[in-house]
Amino acid sequence: MLHDKDRIFTNVYGFQPWNIAAAEARGDWDNTKALMEIGQDAIIDRVKTSGLRGRGGAGFPTGVKWGFMPKEPKPERPNFLVINADESEPGSCKDREIIRHDPHKLIEGALIAGFAMRARAAYIYIRGEYIREAETLFAAIAEAYDRGFLGKNACGSGYDFDVFAHRGAGAYICGEETAMLESLEGKKGQPRLKPPFPAGAGLYGCPTTVNNVESIAVVPTILRRGPEWFFGFGRENNKGTKLFQISGHVEKPCVVEEEMGIPFRELIEKHCGGIRGGWDNLLAVIPGGSSVPLVPAAQIMDAPMDFDGLKELGSGLGTAAVIVMDKSTDIVRAISRLSYFYKHESCGQCTPCREGTGWMWRVMERMRTGDADISEIDTLYQVTKQVEGHTICALGDAAAWPIQGLIKHFRPEMERRIVERQGGEAASYQEAAE
Ligand code: NAI
Ligand code: SF4
Repeated sequence: MLHDKDRIFTNVYGFQPWNIAAAEARGDWDNTKALMEIGQDAIIDRVKTSGLRGRGGAGFPTGVKWGFMPKEPKPERPNFLVINADESEPGSCKDREIIRHDPHKLIEGALIAGFAMRARAAYIYIRGEYIREAETLFAAIAEAYDRGFLGKNACGSGYDFDVFAHRGAGAYICGEETAMLESLEGKKGQPRLKPPFPAGAGLYGCPTTVNNVESIAVVPTILRRGPEWFFGFGRENNKGTKLFQISGHVEKPCVVEEEMGIPFRELIEKHCGGIRGGWDNLLAVIPGGSSVPLVPAAQIMDAPMDFDGLKELGSGLGTAAVIVMDKSTDIVRAISRLSYFYKHESCGQCTPCREGTGWMWRVMERMRTGDADISEIDTLYQVTKQVEGHTICALGDAAAWPIQGLIKHFRPEMERRIVERQGGEAASYQEAAE
């Protein structure tokens, strides 16, 4: 169980001001120079030792990613750090809370991470809809410059480092790391083919690391408290603490920092006051933001909320945006609505995604109303398999997986609608199927 003293984000609810004086009182910017003096490779080693995995959804080991960056960048080809604050995954709202209430953790983390990977500057790409948050971020960066924490000889370390914030314009796809790089370069935000990964050719073709806000904001605390401290939380391969964002049919939706691997039931009981209408009323959960498949109530109750625990259930931790649905939910309609989202947000550059997302949404709408044929459920599933893994970026997979989860776990409900719409009795169809 995580105690308050072990929380990294001590101001996540904004009970104290976000400004630099309050941040310093919370321990941020405390002798940052000394943290930098342990050396660039030692910082990377400590982040590796901590077991930190990327908090943006994919869970790639953060220290390993930093290690891909050239150790002796050329002046004409500098290293860059890009921080992904384009938080747009339905259900995700943790980076928003960090920027609102603890922006100096992010800015100090940017300096330390940028220094460790020999970066010339960090670009924080913030979601266009986060208007107030962007204002806070710009103001916090200005405070850090005023104090000499950024810019020439940052924190008296002898290292020159700039941090720039850049606002997005409302496209979900700009959260995909290579689309973000295109957007930062002033182009249309469309994903690039990988490889090359950004570490090889990123911003302006230079070596670049793209990290999520939370991944960067936890780094100063990990270094101050020691990598072993962070490694002490969670399970093998799933270490540390994590911000969970719980929305939907719980008594008290919230964003809360917890130990990785906390069982689902404990997370909800401890922080959300339980399920609306009691545990018997739980229908299903999307545990990691809309891009991962749903998990039915019976399977998720005791599941460890971490990368491997949810993978074993055929789902994923993603951004740890936990969307709880009780039995009042029209589950087919809910997934159809997600299908519309992915159709709307597809950048359109590859055919399986451009055509497939629209096709899947249209069929999902007929599944919702029952105006489909039962054989189309299999066709729909096969089309999701044709989209999955056949696109330039992960948006195609993200559009396919929620539908696959629905068919896997709620096929009888899809069939019931179709049979009832056609005037038949659902029970008689099931008997015939048997
Ligand atoms: P990915 O698995 O392709 O890559 C993860 C990271 O590791 C990237 O930074 C990539 O450059 C790096 N990487 C992977 N293999 C590498 C290699 N061989 N060499 C060098 N670098 C390598 O995943 P992706 O597409 O970046 O992210 C997908 C995830 O994003 C989804 O699982 C979803 O949960 C999450 N997501 C989060 C959103 C949010 O609002 N935070 C929005 C949408 C999706
Ligand atoms: Fe664009 Fe979709 Fe292809 Fe991604 S998968 S590049 S969003 S068309």
